[in-house]
Amino acid sequence: MLDLQYQFVKTILKNTSHSAQESGRAFAPANIALCKYWGKRNNVLNLPLNSSLSISLGKKGSFTEIKRSPQDKFFLNERLMHPESDFSERLSIFLNLFREICRAPGFEVHTTNTIPTSAGLASSASGFAALVLALNDLTGWQLDKKNLSMLARLGSGSASRSIFNGFVLWNAGKRKDGLDSFSDPIDVTWSEFRIGILKTNFSEKKVSSRLGMKRTVETSPRYRNWPKQAEEDFINIYKAVKNKDFNLVGLLAEKNALEMHATMREANPPIDYFTETTHSLIKRVQSLRNQGLPIYLTIDAGPNVKILFEEKYNDDVIKEFPDVDIINPLGDI
Ligand code: PMV
Repeated sequence: MLDLQYQFVKTILKNTSHSAQESGRAFAPANIALCKYWGKRNNVLNLPLNSSLSISLGKKGSFTEIKRSPQDKFFLNERLMHPESDFSERLSIFLNLFREICRAPGFEVHTTNTIPTSAGLASSASGFAALVLALNDLTGWQLDKKNLSMLARLGSGSASRSIFNGFVLWNAGKRKDGLDSFSDPIDVTWSEFRIGILKTNFSEKKVSSRLGMKRTVETSPRYRNWPKQAEEDFINIYKAVKNKDFNLVGLLAEKNALEMHATMREANPPIDYFTETTHSLIKRVQSLRNQGLPIYLTIDAGPNVKILFEEKYNDDVIKEFPDVDIINPLGDI
């Protein structure tokens, strides 16, 4: 199984040279999908069943520094991670792909997140993207962003989008070898676009997106329509982003996110990331919108609600949600 990943990495690194440095460093932003990736056509190469589209979160993301080391040692926000924790094991397995190429028995990795880890705020996306960028810096591969996004994809699908700032699309691709499944930035300047994170619950999530997707694809009758519907949403959201049609982007993104959660609730056993607070925030956002405030929402594999709005409504949003963390994704770069 890992052989397939290893062959993939070797193909990507085929014509690169190594000019080893002592350490590599990088930053990658987190991202929030407006058209969600949910479900894989290949679990080993992390190839998605549908294309997705996201917005990167400017300065909110992960800083990573990596060095060669006799054995693996991972630090998250300056604390040594337990080597048997799920995330350490996931990192070690990912780094197995690079040990021989980097002539490193182990790696010491320091990651500092400017967003809470594992609460549906896509920190694994920025984490794996920053790790791949830092490896590229450590080794002097000088890979282009297309190839970096394919390497990041092996760690976490959504990480492929975190290689870029701004609006980003990830083309599902069709090829079995996965060489056409990478991300690209969308050429649009939209400085009025804002994201608000409503603090619901920043504890660790119960079902990982990896497991959640697998169970949904395998058992949810409602998932049958998802790949086709999501592909349509992707095209329409892409067009709306290019046209800077805020209301259409918001409406489609909200519908797409709620449908993704509906597919999971029909899985067996059902997956429900929402808490009571999530439900009441959904109602609140929708009722404010009915009263004339143009705000929309999206939710990833967790209970936290992210709202989408335009800069001119900043004050109204703060008045309604005093705790909101407002991100200016294109301004905070
Ligand atoms: O990249 P993963 O395996 O953590 O999956 C991400 C899944 C969602 O965040 C729910 C959707 C997305 O496109 O980011």
